[in-house]
Amino acid sequence: MGIAHPVGIVGLGVISRQYLDTLLGSDQVRVVAVADLDASRAAAVAERIPGCRVLTTAELVADDEVQTVLNLTIPAAHAEVALAAIAHGKDVYGEKPLAATLADAMSIVDAATRAGRRLGCAPDTVLGTGVQTARAAIEDGRIGRPVSAAAMWISPGHEHWHPQPDFYYREGGGPLLDMGPYYLTSLVQLLGPVEAVSGAASRSRAERVIATGPRAGESIGVEVDTHLTGILHHASGALSTVTMSFDGVASTAAPIEVHGVTGSLVVPDPNHFSGDVLLQPHGEQWQTLPPAAGYVDAGRGAGLIDLVSGAGRASGEMALHVLEIMTLLGVSASSGVRERLATTVTTPDLVPLTPVAQWRGAVPASL
Ligand SMILES: NC(=O)c1ccc[n+]([C@@H]2O[C@H](COP(=O)([O-])OP(=O)(O)OC[C@H]3O[C@@H](n4cnc5c(N)ncnc54)[C@H](O)[C@@H]3O)[C@@H](O)[C@H]2O)c1
Repeated sequence: MGIAHPVGIVGLGVISRQYLDTLLGSDQVRVVAVADLDASRAAAVAERIPGCRVLTTAELVADDEVQTVLNLTIPAAHAEVALAAIAHGKDVYGEKPLAATLADAMSIVDAATRAGRRLGCAPDTVLGTGVQTARAAIEDGRIGRPVSAAAMWISPGHEHWHPQPDFYYREGGGPLLDMGPYYLTSLVQLLGPVEAVSGAASRSRAERVIATGPRAGESIGVEVDTHLTGILHHASGALSTVTMSFDGVASTAAPIEVHGVTGSLVVPDPNHFSGDVLLQPHGEQWQTLPPAAGYVDAGRGAGLIDLVSGAGRASGEMALHVLEIMTLLGVSASSGVRERLATTVTTPDLVPLTPVAQWRGAVPASL
């Protein structure tokens, strides 16, 4: 790539630090502007990046220099920021979920398609060596025909560590919309698109208590289900079972297992880029597979660089499909009926084994 691609970031909260780690160490992108409702957060970041300007969100999405808007706002703001950026002719890469509602997500994908703009969305962790090596093993026939998968994420809830956890308990939050994108995007990467879902859900408490930060001890209301479980019917015929919960403590279950007629596979935590992929061919012992595919030593922001480089594997279409899966799991949980999806997605190309160590920059610890 020639001149570094100019990126403007909207939303400089908790997750922005990980993105800055990747982007400031990359010679493929440069952060030219930042915006946050809390201008002091934007200013604190900008003063450490040469040439980076502090703008309002409205100014940033209309800025002549910015080509791609990196949308790291809370889920409820994802659609407004993305649609404004697209309306100003910008490409957009955003944090997950693509939007707080399926209708908003569809309008973002429609707007980007009509405007001919690139649209990308987290998670990009699935482009790391963990999920990509597992996918390479399946495509190489090492478990035979894939039949099923199981994905499990259990936690006591983010109010135990996040200082502003309100959004996790509002529309657009909950364990499924928050963590589901990692697991469901992985399952689509591994087993292909989903045709139908069956879900069930529960809610353990009406309130949660913030454990850390300046608001420690404050109660917040719970407006979403906090334990979801379901079955994904993949178009291939494979069946995945999924559990995502803020209502447990811990689990020793593998994050994701995939079972085929001649082998079983353990896939590492899809919230991270790397980790051991384990394979047990029938009649043999578990073995650790060497990394065979994926971005090596990558961090959040790899999907943005993948997008601006023209590949776009963490695509808006993938995020829309995954958001429909999640939404219909909720619908099915209420209706008791198996729900059929309207969207599908073409599985993106496998990421060749690609070291991206040069993307990792030295970001001042105070950033
Ligand atoms: N915190 C994590 O560990 C984590 C991990 C992965 C993904 N994410 C995702 O990243 C996104 C942000 O999460 P976070 O934890 O950084 O949240 P956060 O609350 O720490 O930060 C969000 C920031 O966006 C700003 N903001 C909100 N609306 C805005 C608008 N319209 N214009 C400009 N700024 C606006 C807020 O002022 C805040 O600074 C969410 O979608 C979340 O699901 C978070």
